This record gives sequence, structure tokens and C-alpha cells, in this order.
Amino acid sequence: MMDQYLSGLTFSIHTFGCQMNKHDSERIDGMLESLGALAVDSIEESDMVIFMTCCVREAADTRLYGQVSSLKNIPLREDSPLNKRLIAIGGCIGQRDGEGLIKAMPHVDVVFGTHNVGSLPGLIRESLAKHKPQTEILESSEGFSTDLPTQREHSWAAWLPITIGCNNFCSYCIVPYVRGREKSRTLESIRQEAESYVRAGVKEITLLGQNVNSYGRDLYGAPQFVRVLDEVAATGIERLRFATSHPKDLSAEVINRFASLPNLMPALHLPVQSGSNRILKSMNRHYTREHYLELIEQLRKVRPDIALSTDIIVGFPGEREEDFLDTLSLVEEVGYHQVFTFIYSKREGTPAATMIDDTPHEVIQQRFDRLVDLVQQKAFEANQSDEGKVLDVLFEGVSKRDVTKLSGKSPKNQTIHVPLPSAKSPEDFIGKIYPVHIDEAKTWYLAGTLQ
Ligand code: 5AD
Ligand code: SF4
Repeated sequence: MMDQYLSGLTFSIHTFGCQMNKHDSERIDGMLESLGALAVDSIEESDMVIFMTCCVREAADTRLYGQVSSLKNIPLREDSPLNKRLIAIGGCIGQRDGEGLIKAMPHVDVVFGTHNVGSLPGLIRESLAKHKPQTEILESSEGFSTDLPTQREHSWAAWLPITIGCNNFCSYCIVPYVRGREKSRTLESIRQEAESYVRAGVKEITLLGQNVNSYGRDLYGAPQFVRVLDEVAATGIERLRFATSHPKDLSAEVINRFASLPNLMPALHLPVQSGSNRILKSMNRHYTREHYLELIEQLRKVRPDIALSTDIIVGFPGEREEDFLDTLSLVEEVGYHQVFTFIYSKREGTPAATMIDDTPHEVIQQRFDRLVDLVQQKAFEANQSDEGKVLDVLFEGVSKRDVTKLSGKSPKNQTIHVPLPSAKSPEDFIGKIYPVHIDEAKTWYLAGTLQ
């Protein structure tokens, strides 16, 4: 379908934050391309620049303003049909600040939010036709943008959103305010989308939601995430993953699926946030350290090789040395393959923003560094247990650092690097699964050779 305004325009999308944003960006890409616009790699070549923003932490927030203002210094391509580069801002900062973004940055042309990704082409048209900035923010979404075309980043991997929004209101987190209340998609539409991916040759599906474990509570009165797992696994997809899980809702039934569903990959991201019960309570997380460790024990019982990853916040208001030591000992005990570590960032409007926060920044930074040291040591130890094994690797491309190496993912989601065999091209491997002998473990990857 050619579009009077969009056809022939070039665009690039710059995505920050979580997988939900990445997925929304794939929808935008698919939508604009279906209207005749052309995706390009650089800002220099782009007639339209679209930012998909994140406001979970302050750093991401500040970066946006810098990036948007630096666009002023980059000239438009010579044969552009526009006389000024169009700038659009979507995602969580768009949702939160709306019109305010145009007040702060008058050269921004379009602002949209998290609930109306599908409105972007219309907003761009209006802005081009009327030479005026356009803003549209909705309070909540009518449904899922499943009918929008998707241009997937990798042809062999697909993200499949099963819920949007979040009902948990962890006291530090802004997500429920910018993504709205949790809404589940019907089981039927999830199954249909999964089947279409399998037919298209997709090898890996990742089910997405802020808390996939509570899937279906709004539709069916009780969580039905196991049914999603069973139905999607039954499509015959080679690799199935999901993110993110809230420990308070991870059920025994779901844990058992790690034993009974062979295509459910042995990897789980289970954010713990803190190892201290006092801090967990103040974070409004609704579980204890003991409960969390019990879940880990159950998971390891049914799937001894499962790789665990987590998120941890350091420096939450009121965190004392003893709380932090509880976090360190939990990391020691679990032995994660990967930990995403964050320094607490105050978000206006959240309950934690009003809590007394008097730990000196240097102390928090030191705690953060101590945590990172331990995380690296444990990640290395976890990877070492795979030395000498043969793992099935789904290849993704050449390594970013070394073009003579292929890189891919193991079932446990570890990054694997292997030398590209001579007389072969990367295309022979990309999107395919081959066995790899693991020669050496590193902290963040495994080095191996093709069998
Ligand atoms: N400060 C620091 N980290 C945060 N996260 C969410 N909100 C904040 C905040 N205000 C982290 C949590 C979450 C991850 C996606 O981001 O660890 O799991
Ligand atoms: Fe934020 Fe908590 Fe919801 Fe995750 S579960 S998005 S941390 S409020």
C-alpha cells in the first residue's frame, strides 16, 4: 500500500528500554514499511527519526533530551522530499510527558504514547500536512496491536506479547503509571500468532509481559499462564522462552513445565530486586527471601541445568549495610548466570519517591561495585560447568567484536562464539541450530567449535 505522505520517506527507529519497546518498534517498522517508507540505518540518511523511549530510570530519561537536541546538527540528506527532519517520540516518556515534550523541545513533530502505536502514521501525516506538531496520548488501550504488521529484527525469532501493563505497583517502579493496568490477550489469538510464526519458519518464540505469570487473571478470573505455555509449546516451536516473571506469581505448575515441555528452554529470568526481607516489604514485592529461594530449589529440582538470571536494585531508600549483605548472600547462594544490576533511581509519582533516602551516593556506588564483582565471579563459575559439553546453538550472526567468529545462543541463553569455518559464509548458519563443543568459559560468553 503506497501512502501519499509516507511513501518514499526514509526512517530510523531508536529504541531504549525493555523488550516490550523493542517489540513495539518492530510493529512501527512493519507499519511504516507497509506504507512505502524505507528503513535506513543512520540518522544522516533518515527523513524521519523515531525514538521509543524508556523512563524506568533517570539515565534513560536524560539521554533522550541530549539525543533529540543533537539532531539539530545533522543535516538532512540531499534528496529528501522534506525540508526539515521529522522527529517523533513514543514509548514511556511520550506517555508520561505528552504535550510537555513539544513545549520543552519545539522541534519535535509527533508525540505518541504506549497505548497508540498504531496511530503513528496518521500523526505523521497530520503533522506533515498541517506543518504543526501533533500529540496523541490515550489513557488506556482498547486492545492489542496484533493486527499491525511486524518487521521482525531477526526472521527466526519472534516476541509474542501475551499481556500488557502491570498491576503490581512495586514502590520504586513507574511502569504501572505509563503502561497502564494489566490486560491479557485471548488464548486463541496467542495460539494463532504462535502458529503463524511456526509456519513462517521461526525457531524461537519469547512470550512477553511485565508479569507473564498473572496472565489471564483479567479475562478468566484466575491466572492461566500454564495454558499459554502448553498451547504455544504444542505448536512445535523449537525454542520457547518467556519474560518477565514475578516471584509472587510463579506457580508450581509453571515450574513443572520446565520438566515436561522439552521445547521450553532451561533459562528463567526471575527478578529478585533485593535479598533483604525488610527491603522487599518496603518495595511492595509480596514475597520473602525464603519464598524466593524455595522457588529456586523447586526449579533446580525439576530442571537441574536451569540457568537463572535476575534484576537487583542497589541503594533503595533505607537500605542498610545488613540489607545489602543479605543481597550479596542471596546472589552467592543462587549462583546466577546473569544479573542486571541497577542503582536505585528516584521516579516522581511512585511511593518510594517520598521515602527517606539518606545513604551517601559513595556508599551506594561501593555496594554496587561489590555486587558487580560477585556477579561476575558467579557468572564465570556458572559458565565453567559447561566446559567440555556439546550444546545446541541457534546462530544469530557474526560476532560484533570479531568478524571471523559466529555468535549464537545456547538453550540456557548463554552467548556462544565459534570460529567461522573456512569456505563457509555466516549466512550458512544464521537462524539455524548446530551442535557446538564448548572449549572455554568466559564471564559473559562461551568459546567453542562447531562439531
Ligand atoms: N530504579 C532503579 N531500577 C529500577 N528498576 C525499575 N524501576 C527502577 C528504579 N526506579 C529495575 C528493576 C526492574 C528492571 C526492569 O529495572 O530491577 O526489574
Ligand atoms: Fe514494575 Fe513491579 Fe510491575 Fe515489574 S512487576 S513492571 S517492577 S511494578
